Amino acid sequence: MAPLAHSVLVTGSNRGIGLEMVHQLVEMTDPPEHIFATCRNPAGSQGKALRDLADKHSRIHIIQLEVENQSSVKASVAVVESHLNGKGLNLLINNAGVNSYASLETVQPEEMLSVFNTNVVGPILVVQEFLPLLKKAAKETATEEMSCRKAAVINITSKLGSIERGFEVMVASMLPYRASKVALNMVTVCMAMELKGDGILCATIHPGWVKTDMGTEKAPLDVESSVQGILRVLANLSSSETGAFLDWEGNSLPW
Ligand SMILES: NC(=O)c1ccc[n+]([C@@H]2O[C@H](COP(=O)([O-])OP(=O)(O)OC[C@H]3O[C@@H](n4cnc5c(N)ncnc54)[C@H](OP(=O)(O)O)[C@@H]3O)[C@@H](O)[C@H]2O)c1
Repeated sequence: MAPLAHSVLVTGSNRGIGLEMVHQLVEMTDPPEHIFATCRNPAGSQGKALRDLADKHSRIHIIQLEVENQSSVKASVAVVESHLNGKGLNLLINNAGVNSYASLETVQPEEMLSVFNTNVVGPILVVQEFLPLLKKAAKETATEEMSCRKAAVINITSKLGSIERGFEVMVASMLPYRASKVALNMVTVCMAMELKGDGILCATIHPGWVKTDMGTEKAPLDVESSVQGILRVLANLSSSETGAFLDWEGNSLPW
């Protein structure tokens, strides 16, 4: 099978779904040459599992990146560029995110803004700053067909951000979180429209309800299965899926 991509960047990769992505990417039969595992506090106790993994694999580069902090994102671009030796970045996975259980009656403006900052403004900033490297990767690939091998942005969303199906399981109000993922979905479609001409594929993927700190122990899906599914979906994405809202099994979800 062809490699997923020559280079991949994952945000929020020190725990949960992001950490498992880095783990499975590096264990692939034909792994990416460069795996940029970014997180906001690489040296802290929450970064230990990622540091242990990177110690065993030289293709994992741990890079500091706080998604809503523009100077942190800019600094991370410079580090990524220094590893790529003139090449572009193929695949950018906006995985970092925060939850909030607040309801209409309890939510404070500060919490609403903070969740939107991380889940919506963050991915926009990250894509803006990495766009030159994504465009470079798209130009390096001769084929017109879009793919993660060429250049792609994947935004990790949630089914809770589906207006039509997000209330099938009424877990909790989670007003700020749901609203932020609806916004992220629209941002993905806007990105897809804007970047189509550059040959950059953009899609939004729901990972399932997954056992992580965010998903809690009650979740039915283990993180290994979720990430296996996501990586399978990514390997098969093509031009017809740009702007799509999919789940970890490749099913299309309604907005
Ligand atoms: N788990 C689920 O059931 C589920 C379901 C649907 C969608 N999702 C989505 O999947 C993604 C990953 O979720 P998860 O379950 O792996 O969550 P998690 O276990 O809580 O991990 C969240 C990750 O995001 C990072 N992060 C948070 N704010 C950040 C910021 N401002 N800058 C950089 N990194 C930041 C965290 O870093 P720190 O360690 O520094 O806090 C951590 O690495 C999220 O976008 C989430 O909304 C999850």
